[in-house]
Amino acid sequence: MAENRSGFSSSFGAIMAAAGSAIGLGNIWRFPYICGKYGGGAAIIVYLLFVFLIGMVLLMSELVIGRRTGHTPMRAYEELRPKHRNWRYVGLLGLITSFLILCIYFVISGWTLNYFWESVSGTLASIADGDFATHFAAFASSPVAPVVCLVIFAALTLVIILGGVQNGIEKVSKILMPILLVLVVLLCVRSLTLPGASKGLAYLFSPDFSQLTTEGVLAILGQALFSLSVGMGVMIVYGSYIPKGDGLFKSAMWITVCDTAIAILAGVAIFPAVFAFDQSPDGGPGLVFNVLPVVFNSMGNVGSIVFGGAFFLLLAVAALTSAISLLEALTAWGADYGKSRKRSAIILSVVLVLVAVVASFSFDGGILNDNKLAGISFFDWLDKLTGSYLPPICALLTIIFFGWFMKKDDIHDELSNHGVLKISWFKVFYHILVRFVAPAALIVSLVAGIFT
Ligand code: PFF
Repeated sequence: MAENRSGFSSSFGAIMAAAGSAIGLGNIWRFPYICGKYGGGAAIIVYLLFVFLIGMVLLMSELVIGRRTGHTPMRAYEELRPKHRNWRYVGLLGLITSFLILCIYFVISGWTLNYFWESVSGTLASIADGDFATHFAAFASSPVAPVVCLVIFAALTLVIILGGVQNGIEKVSKILMPILLVLVVLLCVRSLTLPGASKGLAYLFSPDFSQLTTEGVLAILGQALFSLSVGMGVMIVYGSYIPKGDGLFKSAMWITVCDTAIAILAGVAIFPAVFAFDQSPDGGPGLVFNVLPVVFNSMGNVGSIVFGGAFFLLLAVAALTSAISLLEALTAWGADYGKSRKRSAIILSVVLVLVAVVASFSFDGGILNDNKLAGISFFDWLDKLTGSYLPPICALLTIIFFGWFMKKDDIHDELSNHGVLKISWFKVFYHILVRFVAPAALIVSLVAGIFT
């Protein structure tokens, strides 16, 4: 049982693991694109407001719930409100959401592994610029290659989880996060030294408030939540592993700063290069698998191997540390109810892989792509549910619980480490942001998301 409840051994390890969860595919392929599309610097200002005033508040509340109870979401809610046991279903919804996100993550991370291999082996360098879209479509719709890749990625994730919280997650995060930083800085330097790089910087940073539409503001809020991995309860689980003496405000601040810095650096790595080679800015799979390989090929054979390889490795590393947090949240849930960690992790991984394979087959052109529900394929359903609906619903319920149902004294006690830390900001912060601003923003975003 002791193994089931071991936590992170150091503050640095805890922050690296949680930042690893936050920094993921979303930072690299969605954040820069959303900023470019919705007004550059204007979008970045709104993002910073959302991420620090709403995202970080949610992050802190999850860390508090986790560390206070030392449990995974369902049991944590039960313990904090024993007379209102229905709150545990919020925890359950978060776990279901984590499960679904991980299925999509496995598929896409598998693609990044394949592209990493194709970069370093020179395969991508031999493809003509106009053929990348066809190359990607053929790969992603094939019944074998993407499945092999997703199984390898899932196996990597599983091995780390089987290593345990300290020897698996913490150790790996402490190695991988600095590597990720080096890779992104390397790519930034390359991108910024290309002739014409300034056009890309202007696209990303110069503020254009006329582009900042309502749709844009909602997309930015969704991105701020997704990026910090909040709403799903994953941060409740990581919170339960944070050493008792750590200040949770400080931890949340570090995680948020690291996540935001990497998102902005990813934009600096991508857009100057995209504009320098006259490609059009895009987001999601289109950017990563169709546009960027053309950019890397324009850097010559060695450039394609080195910088293409570095970029896809960056994506794979970012995806891996996020995937381990999702699998850990699910595994720890089993362990919290007395199941063996090892067995839970293995069984969960097998089920996740099976669902991910179905998702992969249902991607555009795949063998199950014609089996649609309400005209939408299984892959697109997963994408829609985990991208737009479930995370804000879970986040809203979590913040309502935290602000209105959890005892204020408990929160104060946990944030101040039993009165050791001074948290004079608490009163204003708690009342205004936790009780009103964050829930209101989430309600508006949900209503608008449903009706637009
Ligand atoms: N924050 C990750 C990203 O930006 O890609 C995604 C994510 C990971 C969401 C873990 C939720 C989660 F629990």
